[in-house]
Amino acid sequence: MKLLKGNIVFAPRLGELTAIERGALLLSDGGTILDVCKCVPEGCDAEVFDYGDALIMPSFADMHLHAPQYPMLGMGMDLPLLDWLNAYTFKTEARFADTDYARGVYRKLARELIAQGTTRVCMFSSLHTDATLVLMEELERAGVTGFVGKVNMDRNSGAVLRESTQESMRETLRWLDGCASFAHVRPILTPRFPPSCTDELMAWLGKLAGERGLSVQSHLSENEREIALVRELHPDCAQYWETYNKYGLWKDHTIMAHCVHSDARERAAIRRANVVAVHCPDSNVNLCSGVAPVRAMLREGLWVALGSDIAGGALLAMNRVVGAAIRASKLRQIQTDGADEFLTVAEGYYLASTAGHRYFGAGEGFVPGDALHAIVVDDRAFAESTRPLSLRERFERSIYLLDKTTIRAVWSDGRRVVG
Ligand code: GUN
Ligand code: FE
Repeated sequence: MKLLKGNIVFAPRLGELTAIERGALLLSDGGTILDVCKCVPEGCDAEVFDYGDALIMPSFADMHLHAPQYPMLGMGMDLPLLDWLNAYTFKTEARFADTDYARGVYRKLARELIAQGTTRVCMFSSLHTDATLVLMEELERAGVTGFVGKVNMDRNSGAVLRESTQESMRETLRWLDGCASFAHVRPILTPRFPPSCTDELMAWLGKLAGERGLSVQSHLSENEREIALVRELHPDCAQYWETYNKYGLWKDHTIMAHCVHSDARERAAIRRANVVAVHCPDSNVNLCSGVAPVRAMLREGLWVALGSDIAGGALLAMNRVVGAAIRASKLRQIQTDGADEFLTVAEGYYLASTAGHRYFGAGEGFVPGDALHAIVVDDRAFAESTRPLSLRERFERSIYLLDKTTIRAVWSDGRRVVG
């Protein structure tokens, strides 16, 4: 067994925070949580990890990001979505035809994710099969777990980044064959968005998802011009989500990034199908897409999680994405004259941890039976306060201030991967 000693903090449900001072987590040898202890058990025969006065909290889950956009963080931020895709994004992703180049970028990204405390991801690769397999290898090597998708895109991407419909199908099957050996990183089907995929390809992917029991991730109602383009391309669909529904891609556990402009009808379709709405606040503000109606989604019982959406988002660190979500929600509160209340720190952290971990079958915070996904935060480096802080205050401050220098240890799927 293993015993982790420290201050235990987690957000079991939206708006709730459990804070246990000087508690402990008891793990099996394989890293499964056996007990969440309110005080340190005496005389138990376990390997001890004494984190002293540090905070032990669930790690972050980044439920939407684009790995091949890591080299263009912070670029093109003065452009709206469709112009940004054409001017920067497709050209950057085209470089991943070179697997050696991909290896270097992806090794750095995977290590950085772990160092920043993100242990679970739902990630877009590029359209390149070999680079996608390299990405999965590098995530495995660094200890990042979750889902990765080879992107499907057979139209409207210009000359540099193109696959024919037949190539897209063939390469998807080759990629799925290549994924069989990975233990912690699994495939998810990834049509980029309707403007990038012909109806023939969308229909084929929907059929494949059904036959093989694969999940799907894509983008939804991010930006006004994009939505108008989708309407032009699918005149038979009253709303964006119906373009996915038409082809069997709208189902339980489908991940839809953004949902900035999803109205009550589209939100009802999200809830009915148990689709996950991934809020990407930094990206939505950077690309002038808007501020998603997150409070309305939560009030209506939608499953909402958080994503960095690099490189539309320029922040890889999920604690900073929580800060961005809180700030965006405060602007929305102001704009709605208080009708949409802002997100508290505990709520923002819930969206970045528990709501994402749930996608992978995890329980509410630290729960016996789950493999441990945790960060250990040493907040001694933050400026000394004028008075002693409660554990809750220390947690709130840590969400705003922590960085990789204050993350002392990281556990992913029961394994200690940092510290
Ligand atoms: N829609 C289609 N592709 C993309 C992308 O790469 N980033 C964002 N933010 N939206 C998209
Ligand atoms: Fe995206």
